[in-house]
Amino acid sequence: MRDDLTIVILAAGLGTRMKSRKAKVLHEAGGLTLIEHVVQTALQLALPERIVAVVGHQADEVRAKVAGAGIGFCVQAEQLGTGHAVMSCREALAHLPGHLVVLYGDTPLLAAETLRRLVARQIASGAAATVITTEPGDPTGYGRAITDDHGDLVAIVEHKVATPEQRAIRQINSGIYCFRADLLWKHLLEIRPNPVSKELYLTDIVEILHGAGYKVASMPHTEASELLGINNRIELAAVDEVFRRRKVEQLMLDGVTIQKPATVMVDAAVRVGVDTVVEPFAQLLGSTAVGTDCRIGAGAIVRDSRLADGVRIWPYTLISDAVIEDGASVGPFARLREGAHMEREAHVGNFVELKQTKLGRRSKSGHLSYLGDAEIGAGVNIGAGTITCNYDGVRKSKTIIGSQVFVGSNATLVAPVELGGGSYVAAGSVITDAVPADALALGRSRQVVKEGWAKRRREGAKALPEVSRLRT
Ligand code: UD1
Ligand code: MG
Repeated sequence: MRDDLTIVILAAGLGTRMKSRKAKVLHEAGGLTLIEHVVQTALQLALPERIVAVVGHQADEVRAKVAGAGIGFCVQAEQLGTGHAVMSCREALAHLPGHLVVLYGDTPLLAAETLRRLVARQIASGAAATVITTEPGDPTGYGRAITDDHGDLVAIVEHKVATPEQRAIRQINSGIYCFRADLLWKHLLEIRPNPVSKELYLTDIVEILHGAGYKVASMPHTEASELLGINNRIELAAVDEVFRRRKVEQLMLDGVTIQKPATVMVDAAVRVGVDTVVEPFAQLLGSTAVGTDCRIGAGAIVRDSRLADGVRIWPYTLISDAVIEDGASVGPFARLREGAHMEREAHVGNFVELKQTKLGRRSKSGHLSYLGDAEIGAGVNIGAGTITCNYDGVRKSKTIIGSQVFVGSNATLVAPVELGGGSYVAAGSVITDAVPADALALGRSRQVVKEGWAKRRREGAKALPEVSRLRT
């Protein structure tokens, strides 16, 4: 961490080529917005108070995404180009000594290590600036690096305005620079609007510094994919894929088994413990934390949830904002929504939904149930088809079920209602009143049996013509 380093992140553009109403840096790759990625990288090199993001398009939203990091902001009210964007923080930063790194908010794969090398190279070389260059498979759209015999930069020519000979150059400008701060601020205002686009290109500073007799070094970087600048949604998808691959590879190196890793999607902040197995097409998103020895079934989606150790998630289960304790199992085809909390070894089976509900230790809801706003004790059996009627059209009410309760199949529990510990609810009951502990509650009409009725009907029906027989 250097205290003489300033970092400016350009993030004011709309990103016309994204064809979006949302500012480009607010688009996500690898589960974070582009601006969050770049700020995280910057924070590994410089103090937050020496990092400034230039915002313009949807400034408030961009600011809100990274405000927690403690960095500063400059506003570029009108987006007149990357040179103009840097000019907009001249007043705030020109007095700061040392070196200044410019990063573009649309280049999120950049590694802190590469940036560290850039700064070290710049300081050692005594150049006015050092620019990271690379050779991507297809240089279309990028600024081309024009170098002299020593490999030093003479100019950067934007693709749009480059001649066919210049376009044939494969070495491109990554958009990542380290300047001697004093020289940048001294010469920045010499940038003139580009005759074709009328924009003020930061890249023109290279020719200006070179013309003033300074050396501008290039730092060729072989890992072109790390420097991918996102300008459209195809590039966004490509970068997302790189983040995903990096994340699952890291998890595998850390002791997680991932089957068909190319199909598994894991967000950057997700943590997974050793010996957990992740099956194909699973997604682990947001702030999810998974313990050790768990199994995440095929097609399961887990967001912002905490899974302890030995948890089993069967395929095609959706889980969000939930807590699942040791040894519990969920699914297949189950849904745990906000505030679902399964205690140790609890079990939820297929087509069961939990919301704002605590399911106590070793309690089970195996099939076809809705449990909302409920507090369920330990060792409870919830029969198939049980529904908590938690909403009367106006407000939500609670269902409280004590430990060791047995709820028969297809029970309808009309909240607010409480079932005392150890009580029984007969199958098919509609329960509207409290059930005392250890009682049996029956809430259904008594069964009527008519001996021989079916047989008589069958025999009578034989004499009837075809059509009327169908109607009876
Ligand atoms: C830029 C470089 C190009 C380089 C490429 C690498 C210039 C003129 N060109 O082109 O040489 O090869 O990046 O990815 O710099 N921005 C502002 N304010 C503005 C304009 C842009 O803040 O007025 C921000 C954008 O939000 C974006 C970044 O600057 O994060 C880069 O802008 P973009 O329009 O993507 O530049 P490129 O055409 O990709
Ligand atoms: Mg770009």
